[in-house]
Amino acid sequence: MKFFIDTANLDDIAEAQALGVLDGVTTNPSLMAKEGITGADNILAHYQKICDLVDGDVSAEVISTDFEGMVDEGEMLASLHPQIVVKLPLIADGIKACKYFSDKGIKTNVTLVFSAGQALLAAKAGATYVSPFIGRLDDISTDGLNLIAEIRQIYDNYGFETQILAASVRHTMHVIDCAKLGSDVMTGPLSSIKGLLKHPLTDIGLAKFLADYKKGNS
Ligand code: G3P
Repeated sequence: MKFFIDTANLDDIAEAQALGVLDGVTTNPSLMAKEGITGADNILAHYQKICDLVDGDVSAEVISTDFEGMVDEGEMLASLHPQIVVKLPLIADGIKACKYFSDKGIKTNVTLVFSAGQALLAAKAGATYVSPFIGRLDDISTDGLNLIAEIRQIYDNYGFETQILAASVRHTMHVIDCAKLGSDVMTGPLSSIKGLLKHPLTDIGLAKFLADYKKGNS
């Protein structure tokens, strides 16, 4: 399972990268705005900084909503850096653009996916990644994890190579449940990755090992 971090915060990205378990980064216009990154030039420069920090795929989202605009923007984003994946919203023009980019061998991430039918369309259009938003489904009393299971089944039925990128992951249990369900990738905040480290028995056990070592060597 690949771990992506869902942020535009360079410190968080660097910390996850230093842990040695980071496979990529996802961003969106809201995450950029949260870091105070505004204006096309600043946003493009920020993508460059993110690509310099990590080895894996970096999703950069288009803001156009028409096919021609998405193609122009996506081509410009893809030309920025070989690690850039063009992130497209799941609307009709986004699916058309996804097909266009996949035919050209440019990686895509189809985002804002909330149903199995949408995920099927993204796979048919050759998406590299599909991003079902599990946390936002949970927010409206709909089981986000069930969507991951449905997409897994559909993709396995037909051998679709599109990778399921569980997005809107909010906490460690989302990560573990997505891993159990066979999600190819998860993207979440740094806390969802660091939370996996925690177990009180690890801390108690380590304290005892160190205390016993001290006793034996004093
Ligand atoms: O990857 C999608 C993500 O950025 C949305 O997360 O927490 O805003 O639902 P959230």
